[in-house]
Amino acid sequence: MKKPFLQKQDPEIYQALLGEEKREKEGLEMIASENYVSEAVHEALGSVFTNKYSEGYPGKRYYGGQTYTDIIESLAIERAKKIFGAEHANVQPLSGAPANIAAYAALLEPGDCILGMDLSHGGHLTHGHPATVMTKVYRFVSYKTEPDGSIDYEKLLKIAKKEKPKLILAGFSSYTRTLDYAKFAAIAKTVGARSMMDMAHIAGLVAAKVVPNPVPYFDVVTLTTHKSLRGPRGGMILCKKEFAKAIDKAIFPGLQGGPHMNNIAAKAVAFGEALHPDFKKYGKQILKNAKTLEKSFVKHGGKILFGGTENHMLVLNAVETYGISGRTAEERLDAIGITVNKNVIPDDPRGPMDPSGIRVGVPALTTRGMKEAEVKQIALWMHQAMSTDDSKFHEALHKEVVRLCKKFPVPKQFI
Ligand SMILES: Cc1ncc(COP(=O)(O)O)c(C=O)c1O
Repeated sequence: MKKPFLQKQDPEIYQALLGEEKREKEGLEMIASENYVSEAVHEALGSVFTNKYSEGYPGKRYYGGQTYTDIIESLAIERAKKIFGAEHANVQPLSGAPANIAAYAALLEPGDCILGMDLSHGGHLTHGHPATVMTKVYRFVSYKTEPDGSIDYEKLLKIAKKEKPKLILAGFSSYTRTLDYAKFAAIAKTVGARSMMDMAHIAGLVAAKVVPNPVPYFDVVTLTTHKSLRGPRGGMILCKKEFAKAIDKAIFPGLQGGPHMNNIAAKAVAFGEALHPDFKKYGKQILKNAKTLEKSFVKHGGKILFGGTENHMLVLNAVETYGISGRTAEERLDAIGITVNKNVIPDDPRGPMDPSGIRVGVPALTTRGMKEAEVKQIALWMHQAMSTDDSKFHEALHKEVVRLCKKFPVPKQFI
């Protein structure tokens, strides 16, 4: 893309931007939380809305000049509510982590207990990792997955009865199976806790209606807009009417200042895309591609965690499959132009910087139009690359990857 002003004024940044454009075009993006946005989303992101302060909410702002910001934020809210069938939507969270922190602040008092998924079993840092500030404010306890990858809801109920959490948290960053939302809600009701789902990863699949929608079951649902939902980097909170005021107050003035209006404009554009019938096709293809990837890995001897995938990603045990760490697997794939991330496996005996597994996702390559045939080919290349440290062989595979990427250019338009 031509950016003549940037090119002239700041060549260092311009060169880095060109490099990133090339990297994204010529590489296979298989980080499960990444995707490509449309040019319309880019245009909204790069718009004059970045100039505007709009503390408050539509119709109730602390600054003047809100004619157009009110239009875009109201549109973003209405579209979000329509996509997910939500009673209330707050589109201002700057990202997923602040959305979660705000939800905790809205529902809880300091010192209250939150029951969430153990990080190594798929939970996110904000669900109670000791390195996060939130663990100084709330008492986090966790539940784990079973060896077959399922969640034992009887066990979960027992933990809930013992720990008496004020909030039961569902949701994950690297768990690959479908949750039983009704059971989460029932357990929360039994112990008198609030219920929350963090659907950051699967929001696009929910929007496409190809996996169950958690919104009817939970008091509050948080998400990011930049993963499978294919919008700009950002967060969002959906909730029942009962919690709307508390959520809005927790975001502003509780946690954030001025909303990023260029981002909210871009969210509205992405939500418009998610409401288009084609988005369902994209969601369906993601599920098919992820299943194909799983089957292909298994055919090549891959050890897949959690008993397989029912969403857009899977976790592969690199140590058990190839006798290499997740970090080495990530490096070998990087060498052939495939980007993934190293990932812990349940109760990983290794550390997070050099864990036992990798997490692999298909939303971005599905956005490029790749289907089962390409995914099978990619799985074979990945298998071959992880099986050897031969850099000449990696170079040859890299050429194949670039050739495939050129056949499937990153689209500029989805609707
Ligand atoms: C489940 C889940 N929640 C929250 C987040 C945090 O989102 P962000 O990185 O936008 O703060 C992530 C990010 O990976 C996530 O996977």
